[in-house]
Amino acid sequence: MSDNQHLEHMEHDRGTWGSNFGFLMAAVGSAVGLGNIWGFPYKMGSKGGFAFLIIYLLLVIFVGVVVMLGELTIGRKTGKGAVGAYAALSKKYKWVGYLGILSAFTLLAFYNVLGGLVMRYMFGFLLQIMGVDGFSGAGMGFFGYILYDYSGMIFFHVLFIVCNVVIVMGGIQGGIEKFCTVAMPALFFMLLFVIIYVAFQPGAGEGYKFMLTPNFEPLSSFGGFIDVLKTAAGQMFFSLSLGMGAIISYGSYLDKKEDLQKNSLIIPACDTLIAVMAACAILPACAAFNMEYAQGPGLLFNTMQNVFLSMGSFGNFVGFMFYFLVFIAAVTSSISLFEAIVTWRLDVGIEKKQKVSRTKIMSIAAVCAFIVGIPVALDALGAADAVVKAPYLLLGMTPEQLAAGQVPMAIDCWLDFFDVISEGIFMPLGALIMAVLIGWKWKTRNLIVPECEISGHKFWGYTFFDICFKFITPIGMILVLGGQIYDFFIKALIA
Ligand code: TRP
Repeated sequence: MSDNQHLEHMEHDRGTWGSNFGFLMAAVGSAVGLGNIWGFPYKMGSKGGFAFLIIYLLLVIFVGVVVMLGELTIGRKTGKGAVGAYAALSKKYKWVGYLGILSAFTLLAFYNVLGGLVMRYMFGFLLQIMGVDGFSGAGMGFFGYILYDYSGMIFFHVLFIVCNVVIVMGGIQGGIEKFCTVAMPALFFMLLFVIIYVAFQPGAGEGYKFMLTPNFEPLSSFGGFIDVLKTAAGQMFFSLSLGMGAIISYGSYLDKKEDLQKNSLIIPACDTLIAVMAACAILPACAAFNMEYAQGPGLLFNTMQNVFLSMGSFGNFVGFMFYFLVFIAAVTSSISLFEAIVTWRLDVGIEKKQKVSRTKIMSIAAVCAFIVGIPVALDALGAADAVVKAPYLLLGMTPEQLAAGQVPMAIDCWLDFFDVISEGIFMPLGALIMAVLIGWKWKTRNLIVPECEISGHKFWGYTFFDICFKFITPIGMILVLGGQIYDFFIKALIA
């Protein structure tokens, strides 16, 4: 960037990425998270293996890349985070930006708690390596123990948030970019190491078979096909950090000379690669030690811990490595959620010509995120005897109804509650509105093409992007929205 531009940004205290590579590491860091390492493997496993992968890839190309380009372009063109960007494009749609801020908090509510748990397991294995019992005498039953260790849950929740504060406080270049540029390559190599180690465990082969044998059974009926499609679409969306403005914020710090179209291909490609790699580590590991590819947080914590504890003494080392890489994945994602909030407040301050302090904004955001996360940390995933009661209990439903499948997923515990409203409603809604606005109101030709061509790169695939913004993405999003609302809220009620 020119010195002039640089000065201008410095004056605003807003910051920019130091290089396109740094931006990419931050954006890939945002995308690669718990969604890749925990969500993708079991969804792929339970929804048709290879058949799921094919559908997932098609969705990434037809929806993921397109929405990614939309968000990056909106961010860079306006030079603002989600709220400011929508307001700049048309005042009437500022609320779509607020929807994103709301999503950021609901996502952080559970993401920080899970991140804290990951840290607890990481330290647990570190202690094990040093010959100390890292799991409080609970061994393989640790997950059941930690959920009721309320002070531990809060302590690690706070510790994870503090990591976020330290990184985001450092600013775009000195904090987020610097951290991600080191952490993301490290994550890649650690994951590679775990994959290779797991491959040599006897019995791992079953896992690959399970993963890679195309099972078209789930696709054989129309209902089954729709089920796979909406699961894959929801996963793709969450995994790419789309639909709530995190990518808009990251795009707003990007230099005008960078190639937006190329970036919008690279980020999804890396994200998908890591998701497939995670599946190659987790599913064979479970197979080798006869563990269930269980769903939910149990897979990431309970099952994987048991796998590593079963590997013998070297397992402690592999376990530490695994949770360390999951920690990196989680924290590079949560900082993007915090950054979406911080960018919003920075922009407001800059617009009002007030003195803005990133540190102060981030500290307030951290306290707010901590508060909304408290019920998630203390409800022991919805257990009836936990100190904080799950939403369904508060609403007067009973554990018996839960066991009978009559409690909607949206209220079975606080984690699902926050997950479902963000991932199930706010985010697909945000993307739906964005695609419709770009496709029909602001127009691909008038908004996307000129901003992409500023860098001197020719816009390619106009027809493809235009059709996707106008039709394919909106239809896909309506499908996801409808499907998720049915799954998360309604299905259990008519069971
Ligand atoms: N993509 C992350 C994951 O896969 C989660 C995440 C980070 C996210 N930032 C986001 C999801 C913004 C949606 C929007 O775990």
